[in-house]
Amino acid sequence: MGSVKVQCLVAVLVAMVLVADGAVSCNSVFSYLGPCVPYLRGGGKVPTACCGGIKSVNGMAKTTPDRRAVCGCLKQAVAGISGINYSLAQGLPKACGVSIPYTLSPSTDCSKIK
Ligand SMILES: *[C@@H]1O[C@H](CO)[C@@H](O)[C@H](O)[C@H]1NC(C)=O
Repeated sequence: MGSVKVQCLVAVLVAMVLVADGAVSCNSVFSYLGPCVPYLRGGGKVPTACCGGIKSVNGMAKTTPDRRAVCGCLKQAVAGISGINYSLAQGLPKACGVSIPYTLSPSTDCSKIK
């Protein structure tokens, strides 16, 4: 598998994040969650970079529309990454000491978030 390709993709995502201003973009949520993927698949110790990412994502959710947008991105991420263990995903914010008022699952109803 091409890790060079992955690195290019990450670089592109980071560039997009730098360009995006203000409004929540799923690309930035995805890039923050990148370090979490091995944990979400296999468990073990939560990577420090993953918790940092979760905290950053949580920090983007300041208003109701932002929280709904972040929720939609998280839902998309959880649904889009193959092999994710949903029980690990649901426990992840807590493992990082972050409280997110909904569960990370593909069936989360983001429109109910206030
Ligand atoms: C998900 O992770 C939990 C906790 O590590 C584990 O007990 C469970 O077997 C895992 N489930 C799957 C489907 O891998």
